Amino acid sequence: MSDFQLTRTLDENTAEKALRTDVRGGLTGSPKKLPPKWFYDARGSELFEDITRLPEYYPTRAEREILLERAREIATESGARTLVELGSGSSEKTRHLIEAMPALETYIPVDVSESALRGAADTLLAEHPGLKVHALVADFTRPLRLPDSPGPRLVVFLGGTIGNLLPPERAAFLASVRAMLSPGDALLMGTDLVKDEAVLVAAYDDAQGVTAEFNKNVLAVIDRELGADFHNAEFTHVAVWNKEHEWIEMRLRARSEAVVKIRALDMVVPFRAGEEILTEISAKFRQEGVRKELASAGLELTQWWTDAAGRFALSLSVAEGPVD
Ligand code: SAH
Ligand code: AVI
Repeated sequence: MSDFQLTRTLDENTAEKALRTDVRGGLTGSPKKLPPKWFYDARGSELFEDITRLPEYYPTRAEREILLERAREIATESGARTLVELGSGSSEKTRHLIEAMPALETYIPVDVSESALRGAADTLLAEHPGLKVHALVADFTRPLRLPDSPGPRLVVFLGGTIGNLLPPERAAFLASVRAMLSPGDALLMGTDLVKDEAVLVAAYDDAQGVTAEFNKNVLAVIDRELGADFHNAEFTHVAVWNKEHEWIEMRLRARSEAVVKIRALDMVVPFRAGEEILTEISAKFRQEGVRKELASAGLELTQWWTDAAGRFALSLSVAEGPVD
């Protein structure tokens, strides 16, 4: 018998309210923007998995390489009995870690995508029938109440998803992670690294157009959930490197002048030809920057591992100073 529980902290009403607020705020401001968490309905989660297999999208392969090499070391150093994963998605790479953790009793994946959580749990429980999986449908940028579980805990945040948050959001997020950690707990975090612009842009503008489809999926979510008619307008996928901030920007650019109606918000949104919506930033990091951001949140970097080609890093950190 499998030990699976799923808790929704985001019921449909809360999620729809948050979507309304984000869409109203994001599409009335200038420049227009939408938060990336709305990419991930069931279709968006599938498209992200397709992205991870694209030849241009190296981060997943690079992070898997590090995990495969370091899983034992991470398991021994953490001695964790509980693994908490934020933005867990398919948990595909996490499996390597779970396999290396003999003391592990409970896995707590946290994600906004219920379909991704259910799919991941099915696969994991088939492989580890003794593992307790308590999935949480939740927004990791909001205060989280984790289920009771035995320590020590290892909190993992993989894929470079930290880079999808703006610097102030990252600071707030890391402070909230720090508050989750008791003595003996640790944070394992994946960060994509600054590299050649052409490699970065290709990773976010692949030849098959999967990333373009993923980007446009946010419009399909708004059409479905808020009765909008983005489907009547034409938007082009754009990926550009912002050298000053060292992040990739994904945008959707209106091909021609358009007026989009959003019925549930009783709102019309005019677009000029060429006007863009910023849908995601994906920040790229350097070791010193990561160390500083962790330190500002009261976390001390204890390990830094990269893949052989130096494209991606995994860091291990612990709470600095007295822990509440
Ligand atoms: N960690 C996985 C998946 C990365 S994709 C990997 O490394 O491959 C990013 C994941 O974070 C998606 O599953 C998405 O649904 C989730 N996500 C994005 N924003 C979120 C938020 N604010 N709260 C919770 N989950 C979020
Ligand atoms: C989830 N996140 C780390 C991905 C990234 O690379 O920023 C999302 C993504 N966007 C386009 N491709 C992948």
